[in-house]
This record gives sequence, C-alpha cells and structure tokens, in this order.
Amino acid sequence: MQTTKTVDLGDPDLYTSLDRHVRWREYAAEDAMVWSEPGSSPTGFWSVFSHRACAAVLGPNAPFTSEYGMMIGFDRDHPDRSGGQMMVVSEQDQHRKLRKLVGPLLSRAAARKLSDRVRAEVRGVLDRVLDGEVCDVAAAIGPRIPAAVVCEILGVPAEDQDMLIDLTNHAFGGEDELFDGMTPRQAHTEILVYFDELISARRASPGDDLVSTLLSDGELSIDDVVLNCDNVLIGGNETTRHAITGAVHAFATVPGLLEEIRDGSADVDTVVDEVLRWTSPAMHVLRVTSDDVTINGRDLPAGTPVVAWLPAANRDPAVFDDPDTFRPGRKPNRHIAFGHGMHHCLGSALARIELAVVLREVAERVSRVELVKEPAWLRAVVVQGYRELPVRFTGR
Ligand code: HEM
Repeated sequence: MQTTKTVDLGDPDLYTSLDRHVRWREYAAEDAMVWSEPGSSPTGFWSVFSHRACAAVLGPNAPFTSEYGMMIGFDRDHPDRSGGQMMVVSEQDQHRKLRKLVGPLLSRAAARKLSDRVRAEVRGVLDRVLDGEVCDVAAAIGPRIPAAVVCEILGVPAEDQDMLIDLTNHAFGGEDELFDGMTPRQAHTEILVYFDELISARRASPGDDLVSTLLSDGELSIDDVVLNCDNVLIGGNETTRHAITGAVHAFATVPGLLEEIRDGSADVDTVVDEVLRWTSPAMHVLRVTSDDVTINGRDLPAGTPVVAWLPAANRDPAVFDDPDTFRPGRKPNRHIAFGHGMHHCLGSALARIELAVVLREVAERVSRVELVKEPAWLRAVVVQGYRELPVRFTGR
C-alpha cells in the first residue's frame, strides 16, 4: 500500500552515511511513494523505491519520458537542454538511431577487444600499489580504468590520453570538489572543448572510433556529436569507477572472496552481478509522465516528475534475501543497476568486462586487502559512490 511522506530526497546530505540504506529499505518494504517539495528541484517530484514500482516506471511501455531530463532538478517546465539530442534524454527516432549507431562500439564483442587494455591498466595500477603505502582505491584505482576505456572508445590519440584521463578524474570526482585548481565543472568544460578539436581531426581523417561513427551518420549536428560523446564519457566514467572501487571493498570485507575467485569456486560473472547490485552506483533516474497514470494507487497527471531509486530496488527485501549482505553466489540476481526498459545501459557489457578483469587480476596478484578505515561516501544524489576507500594490498 502506498504511503506518502514529504522529505526533500534531492538533498545530497542524506547520502553521506549508510543510514541511506536504512531509509531506502523502509521505503521499499512499504512500497512507499514520497513527495519531495520544491527545494532541490524547482517544482518537486514523486519517488518510488520498491523493485516492482521502479521497474514499472522504467518499463518499455510505461507512459513516461526521459526527454525533459533524467535527473532530479529537471521537469517539463525546466527541461534539460540536451533533451531530444543526447541519447539518454531522447526518445523515439533519435533514440533508436543513436543506439543503433553507438551500440556496436560498446557491444560485447567490442568489450572483449578492449579487455587487454583493461588488463594492462589494472596490472599497471597494481604494480604501483602492491605492498606499498595505504592506497585510496577511490582515487588511485576506481577512476583510472573506466577513463582509459572511454578514451579508447572515443578514439583519443595515445599522446592525449593521460591529459584526458586526468581531466575526467577531476570532472567526475563528485560534488565534493575535492580537487585543487579546477572545479569539476571547469574540467568538464575543458573536455567538451577537447571534443571539438577531436571532431575536426576525425573529419579530416576518420577512424573506427565513436567520434567518426557519429560523424558518419551525416545528419547529426556537431552539437549532437559533442553531446553524445559526452553521454558515453559520463555514462562510462561516473558509475563504473564506483563499482570498481566497490569490488575492492568487497574483497576487503567478504571473507574468502579472493580465494574463491582465485581457485574458481566462485563464478566471476555471478560475482560481477553481485558487485553491481551491492554498489548500485546509479542512484536515481527521473522520468516525467507523458500521460495520466496511476502508480501505487495514486493518480498522477501528465507532466509529473517521478524518480526511481535504483539502490533501494536492488535491496528490496521482497526480491533479495538478506539484501545488505554481499553474497558472491547470489542467483537469481534480478538487480536493475543498469536501469530497465528502453534506456537500459548501453555500456553494460563493457562495465561487466571491466569488473570481471579487476576481480580476476586482483585475486591473482593479491593475498590480502586490508580495510584501513571505513569508506567515506560521496555527497551526491546522481551517483552513489565512494569518496575515499583506504586499503592496504598485500601481494602474493
Ligand atoms: C544508461 C548505469 C556503465 C553508457 C544507463 C542507465 C543506467 C546506467 C542506470 C539508464 C539511465 C536511464 O534509464 O535514464 C550504469 C552503471 C554502470 C554503467 C551502473 C557501471 C557500473 C556504462 C559504461 C558506458 C555506459 C561503461 C559506456 C562506456 C551508457 C549510455 C546510456 C547508459 C550511453 C544511455 C542508454 C540509453 O539512453 O539508451 N547506464 N552504466 N554506461 N549508459 Fe550506463
């Protein structure tokens, strides 16, 4: 039965401690619907939490649209300016066209080809941190791997990759503005300027990369090309870094996990799914009703913003036994960490491969991961992630 509470769930201060899971668990178990008054958003929004309700809002035939934006703060009267142009906030023909164009670059086959690059990146990182000082995984490991992968997809020349990886790390460090010199927003703007240069270079000499593929369509504007490079950059970096950090967190806290992966008694793909469920880095997705609709017994008119909280759905006790516990062999595992429906994550194969390589390589090279301090969590609402995860790695 639906309950209505009023609390501004767009307040990032609510998510800096593990209390967030207690709140989400309670809401999911009650199948609550929560109204958030204007504050973090201009006109307020409804929220759903249970696995069933989140899947219903995101489902393929649901009367909802992403075109006004997919994050708290956007709605019909305050739409995302990228709406209708960037894949994740477009619908119908533009969305279909973009998925068809970009899909092959992020497919399972493409991901397999990139796995050598991922492995080299993980090995390089482990060489630097094994048997050394305390390592902050959230800064030294999590971000490096996805940034390198996205550079490959975009076709960033080797000589520019370190610069772009650094910029990406700054841009997606979270709302905390941890970095000196440049705010995350400034770093992101630098990246967009760099995309303009990359587009000019690929126009003159096309390759088999994302920029060239988007340009080859012939109908997309330069603005469309920049926005969709940005979509892959954001999609590929913002979330994956926290799932990777979470995989190391699991190694530090789940007894026997390193050994089980090393000796093959744990199936790596099953563990990957549990990492995704347990970390659920995409914290929320927003939709706006495209028609009058009834959710949890409540009638919502067209134009109402509704938020689905994915980590809440992924620990819904009606679907997952003992949901707070990381179970390496959890099966079935119907998590919706990659979303659900038409906008289901296009980079999921790539993210899975990145995580599988990290799990295998760490298990191979490391005998112990010691948690030096409990993790600190990002003050953020779009991403559920690690601000700091200090560990010590002991090599084998
Ligand atoms: C869409 C999560 C990794 C690219 C999404 C959505 C979620 C998500 C929840 C759906 C958004 C919505 O419904 O509005 C994640 C998680 C990841 C991950 C948890 C890692 C653990 C990646 C990677 C890439 C990527 C590695 C690419 C390199 C995209 C793109 C979309 C998307 C392009 C838009 C799809 C569409 O609108 O049709 N992702 N993602 N993601 N993701 Fe990911």
